[in-house]
Amino acid sequence: MKTWTLKERRRTLTEDDRHELQKLHERISASAWRATYHVQPVTGLMNDPNGFSWFGGKWHLFYQWFPFGAVHGLKHWYHVESDDLVSWENKGLFMKPDLLYDNCGCYSGSAYTEDGTTYFAYTGNNKDVFNQRHPYQVLSWIDENGKAEKLDHPLIPHPDGYTEHVRDPKLFRHEGKYYILLGAQDQEEHGKFLLYSSDELKQGWKMEGELKVRGYDHFGFMVECPDLEKIGDDWVLLFSPQGLEQEGEHFANKYNNVYFVGKMDFDNLEFIPNGPFAELDRGFDFYAAQCAAQDRYDDAGVLCAWMGCGDYSYPATDEEDWSGLQTLPRELSIKDGKLLQKPARSLEKIRGRKLFEAKDGSIVSDTMHGLMPRTAVIRLDDPESESIQLNLFAHSRWNGLAISYDKFRRRLTVDRGDFINQCNEEYGTSRTIALENGLSSLEIYVDRSSAEIFVNDGEYVLTMRIFPTAQENLIRMGGKNIDLVIYEALPVTEDTFVI
Ligand code: FRU
Repeated sequence: MKTWTLKERRRTLTEDDRHELQKLHERISASAWRATYHVQPVTGLMNDPNGFSWFGGKWHLFYQWFPFGAVHGLKHWYHVESDDLVSWENKGLFMKPDLLYDNCGCYSGSAYTEDGTTYFAYTGNNKDVFNQRHPYQVLSWIDENGKAEKLDHPLIPHPDGYTEHVRDPKLFRHEGKYYILLGAQDQEEHGKFLLYSSDELKQGWKMEGELKVRGYDHFGFMVECPDLEKIGDDWVLLFSPQGLEQEGEHFANKYNNVYFVGKMDFDNLEFIPNGPFAELDRGFDFYAAQCAAQDRYDDAGVLCAWMGCGDYSYPATDEEDWSGLQTLPRELSIKDGKLLQKPARSLEKIRGRKLFEAKDGSIVSDTMHGLMPRTAVIRLDDPESESIQLNLFAHSRWNGLAISYDKFRRRLTVDRGDFINQCNEEYGTSRTIALENGLSSLEIYVDRSSAEIFVNDGEYVLTMRIFPTAQENLIRMGGKNIDLVIYEALPVTEDTFVI
């Protein structure tokens, strides 16, 4: 693996880099692990989704991007666009570090649209000559060329009592005021939320104080990527805390992405949960989720996340000089006080031909003959009558991705430990969920190097990266009486070179 010098990691994209990146793109686009219906980095490394929003008649997503390789170097924002949350078009660089305030990276942030202008609040990651970090919360907006125009001074001075870890502004408007919610670390190294407000977007920001969550003093040692989303009469507080202790089958990843459903009391700076403290995703690779600022759906939120996590590595694609994927966009809704997450409704469009069908346990049609397609949508219904076992990308000697349900103990287990290519095994190779109400359906989206498993139409989701080799190409299915359909997944997102 290449080792990166500080100088190489601090490189900013310029026009002169076009040729080099084009060559890099040509090379990585031939990889067997490039996605066909997910947002992936044009080159280099992608992490958090930023500025996810609907404006100008399209969906827009920006991602944290280091253009030159699979390393967390200087972060730029790359822009992709979609009509339907299904096929995405590469639009090129949106914002790069070119201010003193963001000299060491344009870190994560969010979008807010008003009167035809979309604004982005983001963290300018400044480092001084002693390599000391100074975070600034910065505002930019889209100029007439579709590029970022930045305010030349920060919106908010650094708050006293907090370390240099204050970042990831969520900008929103509520009852006539603008708000910014930040993730922060206090001097005791506890993860906190800070809330700011203003009557104007470009000035007048003042600190309201810490946003408390009733019943909790703090979350780990740092809170990253906080988000507040209103769905109907409920609020959802989503965030990515670092340093949570694993509790049984919960919080097993290095860093976990969590949420509360509840009420938001702006006057007393308090979030009042009316449900449990829960992980957004029960798989292996899911972090920094962000809800879209949108008015397309008034009955649902739309969420996207990074299929990865800080300090993880993915040797299979790191060696090819690229890293990261975005999850499929998910729709969030609340039913009986519980958060449901479903694949965005328009994702129906990626279902192509039926490759296999079993009804009540008997095969109705089969064009696969035991061979696992590299991309697919698998739908399994009403398996209550028997326990099930699915092995995707198996080999005569290995199990591949093993998905099993034990009907009697009501436990669903997903195990990715039996592949040739492994990643981040120190955080465990299997995940188990106790399904209080049993299993009624599974919907699995496979896209060459990823799998997203939606359980019981959105009650739980498990997201993961997998890197099957060409010889891991079998599918095995077990379980009586199940209804199972496997569709080909249409390659709706083109891997084009645009910078
Ligand atoms: C989360 C994060 C954010 C930060 C960004 C930098 O993955 O660490 O807190 O803004 O990534 O790329």
